[in-house]
Amino acid sequence: MAASGVQRGLEDVVALESRICFIDGKLGRLLYRGYDIRDLAAHATFEEVAYLLWYGHLPTVAQLAELRHRLASLRALPPDLARELDALPATAEPMDVLRTAVSGLAIFEPAETTPGPSSIGGALRLTAALPTILGSFHRRRNHLPPVEARPKLSHAAYLGYALLNREPSELETRAVDVALILHADHELNASTFAARVTASTLSDLYSAVTSAIGTLKGPLHGGANERVMEMLDEIDTVDRVETVIREKLARHERIMGFGHRVYKVEDPRATILREWARKVGEAKGNLRYYQLLQKVVEVVELGHREKGLYPNLDLYSGSVYSLMGVPHDLFTPVFAASRVVGWTAHVLEEYEDLRLIRPSAAYVGPTDLAYVPLAQRT
Ligand code: COA
Repeated sequence: MAASGVQRGLEDVVALESRICFIDGKLGRLLYRGYDIRDLAAHATFEEVAYLLWYGHLPTVAQLAELRHRLASLRALPPDLARELDALPATAEPMDVLRTAVSGLAIFEPAETTPGPSSIGGALRLTAALPTILGSFHRRRNHLPPVEARPKLSHAAYLGYALLNREPSELETRAVDVALILHADHELNASTFAARVTASTLSDLYSAVTSAIGTLKGPLHGGANERVMEMLDEIDTVDRVETVIREKLARHERIMGFGHRVYKVEDPRATILREWARKVGEAKGNLRYYQLLQKVVEVVELGHREKGLYPNLDLYSGSVYSLMGVPHDLFTPVFAASRVVGWTAHVLEEYEDLRLIRPSAAYVGPTDLAYVPLAQRT
C-alpha cells in the first residue's frame, strides 16, 4: 500500500460484482459459472465452456450443436477486411494485427456493434474469426496457402489447422481444446478489466475487445509464455537451470511463468497444463521442455517459497504450443483467441447492469503553484 493509503495496482480491491468466474487464491480453486475448472478441462470442450460463460449454464446437446454450427459458419472474414489485412507488413507483430483486425471488423460489420444483449452476435463473430485472422496473417508471412473455413472442424482443431497448415492430431486437438478452456476467463484480470471499463462507457463490444487485446499484449499479462520459451532457450540444458535461475534472481529479474496477483499457491491451470506438456512431449518424443520446466520449478520454489512464487498457467502453455510447431510470437494471440470468450461474457454482463467505471486518484502532486509566464521560465 502506498503512503497515501492507495492500494497500488488495485491489489485486493473489489471493483464489481460478477457471476462469471470465481477464484480462491488461497486454495488454488477456479470456477467458471460455478463449475470447477478441473472438471471442465477433463470433460468439456471449448465450445461448451464458451456457451457456459456467455449464457450462464451448460448447453443441451441441441444448444451445443447450434453454437458449433454458428461458430463454424462465422469463420470467414469480410473480403474487404481481408484485403486490408493483407496490406499490413508481414513483419508486423501478430498482436498488433489482431487489434487492428478486431477494430476493422467493427467497421465492416457495424450491425453487430450496438451495445446491449444483441452484442452476443459480436461475441460469436469475434470468437469464430480470431483463428482466421491469426492463421491468415501467419500463413501470408510464411508464403503458405490461405486458411479455408473447414466447417467440420471443432474450434480447437480449426485454430490448430489455421496456424499449422495441417489438421492437428487428436491428441494435439485435445491439448489445444484444454488450453483454450483454461485461458477462457479469469475474473477481473487486467485485460478483462480494460474490456469492462470500455463497455461501461456504453461503448461497443468490438471497442472493448480492442482495449483488452492492447492490455493482454504486455509481458506481465499475456506475453509471459513467450518469455518463458526465451528463458528455456537461454538455459538450454537441465544442468544449467540452477545457475541461470539463481543469476536471474540475484539480478532481481522476474522469472516468467511464476507468481500471480491472486493465487498464493500453484495456479490450478498450471497443474492441468503441466500434464498436457508431458503428454504432448511424450507423443512427440521430446521431453526436453518438460524436464527443463520441472527443474526450473524446483529451483524457483525452493528458493522463493516465502514469497509464494509458484507456477502460473504461462509456464506450461508455451511448451505445448512449441512442440506442436506454433511460433512463439503467436502464443499471446492464441491466448486472446480463447480469452475473447471471457472478455465478451464480461462485456455482456456489464451491459446488463451498467454503471460507468470511473475510480478516483489520490492526488500527491503540488498545489497552489503560481503560473510563470513563458518568457520568464528558465
Ligand atoms: N519472479 C521473481 N520474483 C517475483 C516474481 C517472479 N515471477 N513475481 C513476483 N516476484 C517478487 C517481486 O519481485 C516482489 O519481491 P519484493 O517483495 O522483494 O519486491 C514480490 O515477489 C511480490 O511481487 P509483486 O510484483 O508485488 O507481485 P504482483 O502481484 O504485482 O505480481 C505478477 C504478479 C504476475 C505481475 C508477477 O508475479 C510477475 O511479474 N510474474 C511474471 C510474469 C508472469 O508470469 N505473468 C503471467 C501471470 S498469469
